[in-house]
Amino acid sequence: MSENLISKILKDKKNDTPIWFLRQAGRHIPEYFKIKKKETDFISFCLNEDLIIESTNLPLKYYDLDAAIIFSDILMIPWAMKRDVKFNKNFGPSLNPMIPDETKILKNVSICSKLVSIKNAITYLRNNLPKNIGLIGFAGAPWTLACYMIEGRGSKDFINTRKAVWSSHKWFTELIETLIVYIADKLEMQARAGADILMLFDSWSHMIPNNFFNDFGIRPTAKIVDILRSRKIFAPVIGFPFKAGTSIVRYSFESKVDCIALDWSVDLHWATTNINKDIAIQGNLDPASLIPSPSTYLKHNVLTILDTMKDRRFIFNVGHGLTPDCKINNVKEVISIVRNYDRKI
Ligand code: CP3
Repeated sequence: MSENLISKILKDKKNDTPIWFLRQAGRHIPEYFKIKKKETDFISFCLNEDLIIESTNLPLKYYDLDAAIIFSDILMIPWAMKRDVKFNKNFGPSLNPMIPDETKILKNVSICSKLVSIKNAITYLRNNLPKNIGLIGFAGAPWTLACYMIEGRGSKDFINTRKAVWSSHKWFTELIETLIVYIADKLEMQARAGADILMLFDSWSHMIPNNFFNDFGIRPTAKIVDILRSRKIFAPVIGFPFKAGTSIVRYSFESKVDCIALDWSVDLHWATTNINKDIAIQGNLDPASLIPSPSTYLKHNVLTILDTMKDRRFIFNVGHGLTPDCKINNVKEVISIVRNYDRKI
């Protein structure tokens, strides 16, 4: 049984506020580049068990955190589906775009056998991490993976994906249904290997046409949770419907996640009134506040978040990933404020 604070909070126990950071293992820590250089490309990096372990552990050398997140990427499922995923310097990821109605959707891919290094790294990490550090496994949500697979890259409006929803509805639904199973397989593998907590990143959920938010945002998430529970995987699930606006209220009641991660645009007062009170909340410090040095308003902001959330089961985090120019001292300051905060419960 895990003893980490995040699992306790997620299992309905009021406690001190746990803290970890989205993208805590990335480019704001200088050693990251040394680790990365040991492989020729990012996919090989993500498939190298030793390097996964080293980069997962890296932020723990600097910070007093309640969790490690397994070093990987949401695009490893599209990679396993042979979408020719590449990570280009300064341009982000690129994939061989799928043509709606034309590109065959690969069925029966054994995702777990292609990602066995993730499984082995998790087993090793769970056996070697202190018990009070939770280990987080993750996957991209179906909509967000479909966005990258159809568009072939990041986009400001994901017009080809949105068009596919309307013009190739059957094909698009088949893609989402296929991804649901692969994502559940990957999350199950991570939980069985020792991940205590699972997270689903729906980074492009704000691109779902509103009338399809249930079909392609909420329902696929609920289905993934249902599949996991039917396979006797009871690790808590954190859902992250990034920038989905007021739709996050429905998401909080209907997606079956145990915790909703809030992005930096969400008003926490509004959230405490409107978000399902039976689930925990994670978030939502603006990662940009960790860039200035010194960061004048940082302490005030962190305390405001803690005050607003003091009656909720709450995990402190940023409202999107740490950026490469975020300052280590700012991250340390945030942790120290959270650790010293008297919750007065
Ligand atoms: O610190 C961690 O959280 C470790 C693991 C992690 C990575 N990617 C490593 C990574 C996680 C949880 C992700 C999730 C991810 N990947 C998301 C969801 C979260 C979000 O930011 O919304 C998304 C959309 C991706 C897709 C992706 N991967 C993009 C757009 C990029 C390039 C731009 C960027 O944000 O860095 C990546 C590459 C990537 N994934 C890097 C890392 C450390 C950078 C690689 C490098 O240049 O060194």
